Amino acid sequence: MQRRPLVVGNWKMNGLIEPALRLVMDIQRCLAVDLQRYQRCDVVLCPPFTAIYALQQFAVANHSSWQLGAQTMAVAAHGAHTGEISGAMLRDIGCRYVIVGHSERRTLYGEQDTVVVQKVLSALRDQLWPIVCLGESLIERQQGQTLAVVRRQLEAVLAPLLEVYAADQLEHLTLAYEPVWAIGTGHHATVEQVAEVHHQLREILYQHLPPAVAAAIRLLYGGSVKPDNAAPLLALADVDGGLIGGASLHAADFVAIIDAAVPAES
Ligand code: PGA
Repeated sequence: MQRRPLVVGNWKMNGLIEPALRLVMDIQRCLAVDLQRYQRCDVVLCPPFTAIYALQQFAVANHSSWQLGAQTMAVAAHGAHTGEISGAMLRDIGCRYVIVGHSERRTLYGEQDTVVVQKVLSALRDQLWPIVCLGESLIERQQGQTLAVVRRQLEAVLAPLLEVYAADQLEHLTLAYEPVWAIGTGHHATVEQVAEVHHQLREILYQHLPPAVAAAIRLLYGGSVKPDNAAPLLALADVDGGLIGGASLHAADFVAIIDAAVPAES
């Protein structure tokens, strides 16, 4: 099955409004070089919360083809949750996607599988498409636990989701395999490592979901993806795009990665 590629820029805690607008202008300029080609890839930008609205205004004024996502969200829908931002608020300022379970949220902010599940449910409740991150630590890989860890992380999400949603409502879920040891380190996983994990993720989807849904869910790879390593990783059969951190802060690099994700014309 031909899935539409998706490249997501995770800006993390980078970008005051002025530089964020400059970056997005640069990205737009790079995309304009071959708009027809780049429109064969979904592009999502996830700036910090404080820049989302400005980017949304820019996108509307410039008829931009990229979409906006947030880097995390609250579990609760509203109420006494000081400092939190709900999915409805994110929709209100133009977000369509939300990253959930990024390893930095898991390790720095204690988000366990149970919180990740609640956030995925909250995202779907608020009509945001969740991009669910999973991946093993270096120790887990060295101990040969990679496949067990990502299976646990994925099944922790799938089982409760299927209690609430019909399986055919889940085809817009996106998974991002991000080995923790590859994030921000400059050491991306090898093509063989990525192929092995993505193959297993797809198998698990087939075990739990109807074939059409399992085949439709997009699997992204993230972790030190750069223009010079993107092509072989993104060309893998079960890799449908990338979740890009550092390289998404440089317009030319980010668009070069989008370029690598665009499938050859059939
Ligand atoms: P990186 O980050 O591309 O800088 O490794 C990826 C991520 O954290 O999503």
